[in-house]
Amino acid sequence: MEAINASIGYDQRMAAQDIAGSRAHAAMLAATGVITDNDAEAIREGLLTVLSEIDNGTFQFSTALEDIHMNVEARLKDIIGEPAGRLHTGRSRNDQVATDFKLWVRDQLDAAEAGLLALIKALLAQAEAGADWVMPGFTHLQVAQPVTWGHHMMAYVEMFGRDLSRVRDARARMNESPLGAAALAGTSFPIDRDMTASALGFDRPAANSLDAVSDRDFALEFLSAASICAVHLSRFAEELVIWSTAQFRFVTLSDRFSTGSSIMPQKKNPDAAELIRAKVGRIFGANTALMMVMKGLPLAYSKDMQEDKEQVFDAADNWMLALAAMEGMVKDMTANRDSLAAAAGSGFSTATDLADWMVRVLKVPFRDAHHVTGTLVAMAEDRSCDLPDLSLEDMQGVHAGITDDIFSVLGVENSVNSRMSYGGTAPAQVRQQIARWTEILKA
Ligand code: ARG
Repeated sequence: MEAINASIGYDQRMAAQDIAGSRAHAAMLAATGVITDNDAEAIREGLLTVLSEIDNGTFQFSTALEDIHMNVEARLKDIIGEPAGRLHTGRSRNDQVATDFKLWVRDQLDAAEAGLLALIKALLAQAEAGADWVMPGFTHLQVAQPVTWGHHMMAYVEMFGRDLSRVRDARARMNESPLGAAALAGTSFPIDRDMTASALGFDRPAANSLDAVSDRDFALEFLSAASICAVHLSRFAEELVIWSTAQFRFVTLSDRFSTGSSIMPQKKNPDAAELIRAKVGRIFGANTALMMVMKGLPLAYSKDMQEDKEQVFDAADNWMLALAAMEGMVKDMTANRDSLAAAAGSGFSTATDLADWMVRVLKVPFRDAHHVTGTLVAMAEDRSCDLPDLSLEDMQGVHAGITDDIFSVLGVENSVNSRMSYGGTAPAQVRQQIARWTEILKA
């Protein structure tokens, strides 16, 4: 029973939150006259001693005492004696654990916010440096149209920006205090829930005691936000893995974020990127696991809910680690401008520009222009050359109206510069977005 019942092995990570919650509760009990000021003061000092014992590693955690709440209270009793027994007046471990866990998750949301902001800054710096560097843009991982390096970096800024807003939304929504909901029904003691809520930095007390002790939405939202962000991290990591191959050479990762092979001396492996790519597995696993724990639970508290913590702890640790590693990699990596440019013109990446030119200049319907361009691409493919290498005569053989002016749109620089629609890849557009994000970060 002890082995399956105890959570102290992991919930000791919430010791600081548990003690903060108890201090707020004890101060409120004194302020409302439920306990004496002397008892409250003894409890306060005792709790500080317990905290310092935990901080300096001398605290003896006991499995027989089940969880962090009972371990702390038992030690408090050793230290201060009788007043320790008054601390649990008007509360239960059910509102206590919900409060501790919320405080813990709230700290992690703040850490995620900081991690995301740092990563976004690193991406902005990359985007700024290469706002007008051309590279191939892909669909289906086939060369599609030229884009700019800055544009590609800013795509990730948008993605991590949405993650940031999800984190902030989740924090605002979860910031209600469960403390004082007691076991499930509230309490007959004249407690002041506003006082404990504000002492712990909550915006207000949770309005329904049944909901307050049985709600784990905040953990689920944390894991959902983490999962979506991990998907973004994983996609970017995959690009870095591909881009750093000898076949692509789009980026060179720093030695600090690569490893060598124990047998092949020429190898430099993107291990950090690969591990970030994999982290989504355990983070999404945690999300799925807690969804399954919570589904079908009747109100209010059930011991099933003790299974919430390990999933969230593991996901949080790995999310923060992945954010920090990605930030480090992005800061350190070098984009290889020449390789990017050389690849930008490959794969007939300006074929759309050719078709657009015919529409714009010759007033040919787009579908017909598309057909003519297809014929020219086939011709170039046949001769193993690129579109700009075809002669004007060749092109006029396919469509008599084509003039010399066509070559002005076939260069990749022209191609990207022309994509001035809002949110497009033109360097001027990219710089506008960099400026917008720089302002957002200042605020
Ligand atoms: N260790 C428990 C948990 O993590 C604390 C709450 C226990 N409450 C109870 N009524 N047994 O959920």
